[in-house]
Amino acid sequence: MIRIIRTRDYKELSSAAADVIASQIIAKPDSVLGLATGTSPIGIYDELAERYDKGELDFGWVKSVNLDEYMGLSADNENSYRHFMNTHLFDRINIDKVNTHIPDGMTKDPAKEAASYDRMIQSLGGIDLQLLGIGRNGHIGFNEPSDHFEKCTHEVRLTESTIEANSRLFKSLSDVPTHAITMGIGAIMMARRILLIASGPDKAGILKEALFGNITPKVPASILQLHPDLIVVGDKEALPDVGSDDTYLRFTEKTA
Ligand code: F6R
Repeated sequence: MIRIIRTRDYKELSSAAADVIASQIIAKPDSVLGLATGTSPIGIYDELAERYDKGELDFGWVKSVNLDEYMGLSADNENSYRHFMNTHLFDRINIDKVNTHIPDGMTKDPAKEAASYDRMIQSLGGIDLQLLGIGRNGHIGFNEPSDHFEKCTHEVRLTESTIEANSRLFKSLSDVPTHAITMGIGAIMMARRILLIASGPDKAGILKEALFGNITPKVPASILQLHPDLIVVGDKEALPDVGSDDTYLRFTEKTA
């Protein structure tokens, strides 16, 4: 089943998605959260940090696993996803950094790092709630369009469109790493609950294809249709065809 929450704008998207994460932490304080980087989750992390400040949330027992990291960027590089997570979330809440996991982009042996990342996720008992953004080409994590779904954590060569989309955060296109290490589709799909977020008109076409089109590795996010507990939170620009325009917070149930 897919549950779709359509919000008026990005601020309300962030707050609705933060509600899902907050309720997970309240229901299970030692939850394993799968986390994402990129522009989409920034508002959610701001919300979570605010709720922590107000004493509404305790991250003391929470563990986290991130989806991906650029190859060749160290933790102190401001474009690394470790740096992103520290700045946007971890340094603002009481999570124990020892319990925050991100693939090591500086590894000399990506295959070994990938295998140990999967073992680590397994040893935590899998992921309770996985937060996902969606790439304009339908990628989730850095699982790029392909002729098959890659199950395990792996090193990936980023597509030109992803490199270009992500270059906005770098000084120049040539500074964007060409490779990354990403959690595979297997660990993502084994998460007990998935929260997919999308904001803005750029995401409308691909989101519709992913949620309602054919299930194909050419649109990696389309596999999420098979997940038993998928919540999609999108603003009305990303979900123009779903629900009615007058509705502030539309809850639509779709039985696959
Ligand atoms: C980030 C990640 C990516 C992004 C996607 C959307 O950890 O795994 O799949 O979620 O590229 O990025 P934004 O939110 O910047 O549009």
